[in-house]
Amino acid sequence: MSKMQLLLGLLSLLSPAAEALDNGLALKPTMGWLHWERFMCNTDCDTDPDNCISERLYMQMADMMVKEGWKEAGYEYVCIDDCWPSHERDAQGRLQADPKRFPGGIKKLADYVHSKGLKLGIYADVGEKTCAGYPGSLGYYETDAQTFADWDVDLLKFDGCNLKWTLLGDGYIKMSKALNKTGRSILYSCEWPLYEWPFHTPNYTAIRETCNHWRNFNDVFDSWISIKSILDWTASYQDITVPSAGPGGWNDPDMLVIGNFGLSHDQQESQMALWAIMAAPLLMSNDLRDICPRSKELLQNRRIIEISQDPLGKQGYRSAKRNSFEVWERPLSKNRLAVAMLNLQEIGGPRGFAISGVPGWKVCDPQCNVTLILPQYEEMGVQTKESKLILKVNPSGTALLTVTPISKDFGRLHWKDTN
Ligand code: GLA
Repeated sequence: MSKMQLLLGLLSLLSPAAEALDNGLALKPTMGWLHWERFMCNTDCDTDPDNCISERLYMQMADMMVKEGWKEAGYEYVCIDDCWPSHERDAQGRLQADPKRFPGGIKKLADYVHSKGLKLGIYADVGEKTCAGYPGSLGYYETDAQTFADWDVDLLKFDGCNLKWTLLGDGYIKMSKALNKTGRSILYSCEWPLYEWPFHTPNYTAIRETCNHWRNFNDVFDSWISIKSILDWTASYQDITVPSAGPGGWNDPDMLVIGNFGLSHDQQESQMALWAIMAAPLLMSNDLRDICPRSKELLQNRRIIEISQDPLGKQGYRSAKRNSFEVWERPLSKNRLAVAMLNLQEIGGPRGFAISGVPGWKVCDPQCNVTLILPQYEEMGVQTKESKLILKVNPSGTALLTVTPISKDFGRLHWKDTN
C-alpha cells in the first residue's frame, strides 16, 4: 500500500459514513415554516378564509417572516404541505394548484415569496396519491420535477403514502435524479425511512446520498406526549441514525410546534433545545400572525439557533439517563459542547442536576467556560472537573448550556499573564 493510499484510507475513516446528496443545499439544518401541523388540510376558504390552504396564507406568512424578525433570525423557507393541488392534472399531465384557493398559481406565489428574499417549498408524494388523497407523483416524477422547477420552487417535501414499500427506494431515488436534471437548486426533503421502518432497517447511506433531510418517525402533534415520543425514538435508534447526519443531509424529527396550544413554556423550551441538539431542520408550524411574545423570543433565540446551525454539522445524542433526567450532548466547532438536561419528572417542582454528572464534562479538565442559554442566559464563568455547580430544571423543562474547554497551555499562559 502506498503512503497516498494509506492516507486516503485514514481520511475515509475520519469522514462521515456516506456522501451527502451533492446539490450544495442544506449545508446547515434547514430553517423555515411549514403549514401542516397547524393548518393541516383545511380547504374551506368560504367559512375559514384566514386559515385555509390558499395563496393568501403563504403570502401572509412571508410578510410576517420579514416584518417580525424571522428572516433575520435565519428562517428562510415558506413551505406548502399537502392539499394545495387540484384533484385533476392538466391536459398535459401536469399538477396544477387548486384554482379557487390559488388563483395566481404557484409561479406567482414563488415570485412573491422571492421578492421578500425568502424561498418557497412545495409538497408531493412518491406514490399514487398524497396522504390526503390528492394526485401523487408515481409515473410523473420527471414531469412534476420539471413543473416545480418551472414554477421556481426551492424545496420539495416528498411524502411516502400510497406506494408499496419495496418501491420506495426506487421512487425516492428517481425523484432525486429528476430534480437534479432540471438544473434548478431544489432542496429535497424525504420521508423514505419513515415508511420503510415498519418492514426493515432503512439504508441510511443510500438515503443520505438521495435526500437533504429525511423523516424517520411519526408526525409531530401539538402535545408533550408527541414530543417525548419523538425524543424516545431518536435516542433508541441513535446508533443507526446519528452517523448519517452532517452538512447536506439531516435527520428530520418533524416540525417545531412552539407557539401553538399544546405545550407549556417549559415544554416549548425543551423542544427548541432538543431540536437544536439533534441538528434538526427548524421548520415551525404555527401562526406567525398570532404568536405569543415568549414563544417568538424562544424561536428567535440566537444562541439556540447558533447551536442548531453550528458549522461542524454533527448531530447530538442522548448520553445519559438517570433519576428521570436525560442528558443530551452535541459536539460543536472549536471543541465546544452543547449540553441539554431534560427533567422528565412531571410531578413536583424544579429539581437540581449536578453538572459534573454530564458524561462530556471531561472537556472541563482542567478547566472550561460555561454559558447557560436556557432557561435564561447567564455566563457561569470558569468551571473545573470537580465543579459543584447544580442546575435547577423545571418539570418537563430543559437546561441548555455550552461548554468551552480551556486548554492546559492556554491555562498556563493565562496564569503567567495575570501573575
Ligand atoms: C404525512 C406526513 C405529514 C403531512 C401529511 C399530509 O402524514 O408525514 O408530515 O405531510 O402526510 O397529508
